[in-house]
Amino acid sequence: MQNLILNQRTLPAIGMGTWHMGDDFKRRQTELTALRSGLDSGAAVIDTAEMYGEGNSERLVGEALQNFPREKVYLISKVYPWNASLTELPKSLDQSLERLETDYLDLYLLHWRGTIPLAETVAAMEAAKQAGKIKAWGVSNFDTDDMEELWQVPGGQNCAANQVLYNLGERGIEFDLLPWLRKQNVPLIAYSPVAQGDSLGNQFTQQPQLQKIAEQHQASIFQILLAWVIRDGTTLAIPQSSNEMHVKANLAAGAVKLAAAELAILDELFPKPTQKQPLAML
Ligand SMILES: NC(=O)c1ccc[n+]([C@@H]2O[C@H](COP(=O)([O-])OP(=O)(O)OC[C@H]3O[C@@H](n4cnc5c(N)ncnc54)[C@H](OP(=O)(O)O)[C@@H]3O)[C@@H](O)[C@H]2O)c1
Repeated sequence: MQNLILNQRTLPAIGMGTWHMGDDFKRRQTELTALRSGLDSGAAVIDTAEMYGEGNSERLVGEALQNFPREKVYLISKVYPWNASLTELPKSLDQSLERLETDYLDLYLLHWRGTIPLAETVAAMEAAKQAGKIKAWGVSNFDTDDMEELWQVPGGQNCAANQVLYNLGERGIEFDLLPWLRKQNVPLIAYSPVAQGDSLGNQFTQQPQLQKIAEQHQASIFQILLAWVIRDGTTLAIPQSSNEMHVKANLAAGAVKLAAAELAILDELFPKPTQKQPLAML
């Protein structure tokens, strides 16, 4: 099983995203089952945000975690950029904690860059850490120039992770951001790691060579996509699924090891960037 170290904690490299979950009461039991069976199947990380359903996702996660040992979960939430100030961040954080029914987050991310100075956001994050309400903080949707700027801010180098869009079809970060993060030992959290499932079309599912690789591993194409994302041991993938079977399959992908020859085939099919590309975002 592939692991990674995030803020001194060794975690399975596949966790669970929760965007678009918790909004529809008719789907609630199915979603709770999906999250709980993910935890029972060895997932530790759950990723949410105050943005997701304006708190609905956090409420769902809080309910899913009832009666589950808190220390076994690695809980990530995110603050809106306009709430990432010294006065607003503590309020957003308290509301997230209340919805999640917990007294701390393992990781709190600035969801994307806004107009509040980075130095102020870092100071607010550090204060939350001092107060024991978060174990660590990080950023999301930060490109290389944003990371470089963050590194110049007092305390900015305490950033524990950067969460960005990354999957086999979106490799832009490999040109400069990913090498920069690796050099600074900042783990990557890959969002939309299965390219939003079938919703983006059949770019992957109808690809014959990808199908052949999947067959060789007795895996699905989605499992191959996940194994590819986490291949370097410093990346956490957070696929989202409301389907219990998909959740279990996604977690099992942590055991799929792609051979060098298979990685080379994937490089040919979905080439690495050869020049700087603006950071892709959803
Ligand atoms: N920081 C940010 O700005 C940001 C932006 C986007 C996302 N995120 C985070 O990253 C998480 C994941 O990204 P995402 O939700 O955009 O996309 P994703 O995880 O790539 O794809 C989710 C979709 O894929 C399907 N799926 C998942 N596993 C599958 C499987 N094994 N087989 C078939 N279909 C499967 C799901 O449908 P089923 O329910 O039917 O399985 C769902 O429709 C989010 O939930 C969120 O936590 C963060």
